[in-house]
Amino acid sequence: MTYDPASEGARMSFTGRMSYGDYLDLDRILRAQHPLSQAHDEMLFIIQHQTSELWMKLALHEMDAAREAIGAGRLQPAFKMLTRVARIMEQLNSAWDVLRTMTPSEYTEFRESLGESSGFQSYQYRMIEFVAGNRNMAMIRPHEHRPEIAEALLAEAARPSLYDTVIARLRASGFQIAPRERLDEPHRPDPAARAAWAEIYRDPQRHWELYELAEKLVDFEDYFRRWRFNHVTTVKRIIGFKRGSGGTSGVSYLRRMLDVVLFPDLWELRTEL
Ligand code: HEM
Repeated sequence: MTYDPASEGARMSFTGRMSYGDYLDLDRILRAQHPLSQAHDEMLFIIQHQTSELWMKLALHEMDAAREAIGAGRLQPAFKMLTRVARIMEQLNSAWDVLRTMTPSEYTEFRESLGESSGFQSYQYRMIEFVAGNRNMAMIRPHEHRPEIAEALLAEAARPSLYDTVIARLRASGFQIAPRERLDEPHRPDPAARAAWAEIYRDPQRHWELYELAEKLVDFEDYFRRWRFNHVTTVKRIIGFKRGSGGTSGVSYLRRMLDVVLFPDLWELRTEL
C-alpha cells in the first residue's frame, strides 16, 4: 500500500484555506527570476543575488532592532540579534561556494544581459553600511532615480548609527565620550572612546555587558570583512581585472573596500592591550 500522510492527519486540501505558498507569497518570489539570455548559468547568478538580498533584509531587520534595544539599555536581546546578524553574514559567506562553480566562460555568456547593473547599486547593502556607521554620502547618488530609496539612506545618515548608539550606552555607564559632530560620515578613531574600551577590556569582569557588546560588534565586522574578501576573490576568479558592470575598476575597487573599517576604536584598542 502507498503511504498516505492523510492517514496521520496531514491536511491535504487547501481550498479556501491559507497554505504554505500563500503564507510565504511563493508565487511572487518564484516568478521573480527573469533571465535575459539563454545562458544556463544566468539563473544561478540571479538567484544568488536575490537570496543575498533576502538575507540582507533580515540583517537590516535585526540591526535596526538591536540598535533600538541598545538605546533602551536592553543589551541581552541585542546580543542575540547581533549574533544572528553575524550568522547571516556567515550564511552569505558560504553562498560564495555555489557561485564559484561558475567559470569565466559561463559568466561571459550572459554578461551582456546585465548591462550596467551591479551589486554596487544594492541599496540594502548600502543601508547595512549606513546603519553600522560607514556612511559615504556619494553612495546615495546611484539611487537618486528612486527618490524613496535615496531619502531612506539620507534619513539613515541623519540618525545615530549602531556604533553611535553603543557609544551613547558607554556614556550612560559613566564614560566621558563626546558625541561626534557629524553623523553623515564614517566613524573615525576617537581617543576618548578607545580609552573607554581599553578600560573595559582590561577589566572584563567589571564591565561584562559592555565587553560582550564590543565583541558582538567585532564579530559582526569580522564576518562582514570575510564577505568582502570572498566577494573580491570570487570576482577575480570570474572576471580577472576587467572593469565592473557598475563602472568601477572592478577588483581594484573591491580591494580598496577591504580597507574599510567599521569600528576603528575596537580594532585599534587591540594593539594597546
Ligand atoms: C559573478 C559574480 C559577481 C561579480 C563578477 C561581481 C562583480 C562586482 C564588481 C566588479 C563590483 C564593483 C562595482 C562594479 O563596478 O560593478 C561589485 C560590487 C558589489 N557586488 Fe558583486 N559581483 C558578483 C556577485 C555578487 C553577489 C552574489 C552579490 C550579492 C549581493 C554581490 C554584491 C555586490 C555588492 C554589495 C557590491 C558593492 C560593494 C561595495 O561598494 O563595497 N556581488 N561586484
